[in-house]
Parts: sequence; C-alpha cells; structure tokens
Amino acid sequence: MFSLVRNVSNVTKTAVRGKHSLPKLAYEYTALEPIISREIMEIHHTKHHQTYVTNLNAAEEQLAEAQSKKDTTKIISLAGALRFNGGGHINHSIFWQNLAPDCTKPSEELKCAIDEQFKSFDAFKKEMSALTIAVQGSGWGWLGYNKKTGKLQIAALPNQDPLEASTGLVPLFGIDVWEHAYYLQYKNVRPSYVEAIWEIANWNDISKRFAAASSAK
Ligand SMILES: [Fe+2]
Repeated sequence: MFSLVRNVSNVTKTAVRGKHSLPKLAYEYTALEPIISREIMEIHHTKHHQTYVTNLNAAEEQLAEAQSKKDTTKIISLAGALRFNGGGHINHSIFWQNLAPDCTKPSEELKCAIDEQFKSFDAFKKEMSALTIAVQGSGWGWLGYNKKTGKLQIAALPNQDPLEASTGLVPLFGIDVWEHAYYLQYKNVRPSYVEAIWEIANWNDISKRFAAASSAK
C-alpha cells in the first residue's frame, strides 16, 4: 500500500501502483473550528471520504478483472462508479489541503491573476460564492486554471464530478457543498457556510497549485 496524497498527480500514481487509502489531515479535526466543527470534520473525513476510497478500490478491482476477461460490457458499466468514487477521492484529497487554520494570503502572482481576471479579490470571491451557492443538489464550486487560455476560471460541477477530468481545468480551490459538509452546523443555510469557508482557505496551498499549473507546459 502507498500512503496518500499530497496532490492530484499522486492520486493517479497511487491508482497505478496499488490501492488508494484515506489521506491523513495536516491538522486536527478541531483545528478549523469555529468555521467547521470537529464533528463535521471527523465524519466527513473518516466516513464520507473513506467510503469513496473503499468504493473506488472495489470498482478498480472489478475493472481489472473485467479487463483481464476482455468483458467490455462490464468495463463500460463501471464508468459511473469510477467517476463518482474516483471523483470523491480526488475532490476531498484537494479539499483537505485547500483548508487551514492559519491566516494565509494569495501569492503575488495569484493575486495579480485574480485582479486581472475578476477586477478585484472581492469581486472574485463574490462571483465564486454565488456560483457555488447556486449548485443544485450536491456538488462543488471551483477555482480552476485553464491551461489553454492561461487564465483563471470558476466553475460549478454536480455530484463528485472531478474538475480536470470533466472540464480540463486544473483544480486550485474547491468548495464542497454537499450537505454532509455543512448541515450539522449550518443546517439549510448554505450561503453562511460558503461565506465562512473563505476564512479558512489555505492560500499557501492554492497558490502552490496555481504556480504548478501555470508553469506546466
Ligand atoms: Fe464532501
């Protein structure tokens, strides 16, 4: 087994070399309080994320067996489970790193890109929050990097659809708006959760992702 998961590329490497496992958090379950409670963090990590990992491993095992038998019908039938559970694993692995108890700020390069793309940080925050709050049902809001245009882009996706596999955008910052991410604390008031999460955004991590994405050829 290989321990997870410092970035998305490691998720892919792990998939090739062995079973996926739940990544350890860089902080305690209480560290993001009062924005996110210990109870939510513990359940979200040890139950929800773990379930995506377990089900992804099961789907990949079935895929390997189907491939060995050249069972195309079975291979095709696994696409939904791979997308949902693989997306859940990728998305949450990014999400935990996108958050931090410390006060952080975007790098100068990212701040410039945000100002250029959205006019100001406040305008960006407002636009991404609105798009994320408006997700129908369960899903995610994202800040991504478009390698073709060299620009930042925000997006919202349903369920556990992974950003890069679905849109080509490199994920920089994701906001989980599944009810399991906030309901125990914020009840049905999703806008309050989305507004609060900006206070624990890990701009060191988001800036590193931006630097890597914008320097990659
Ligand atoms: Fe989640």
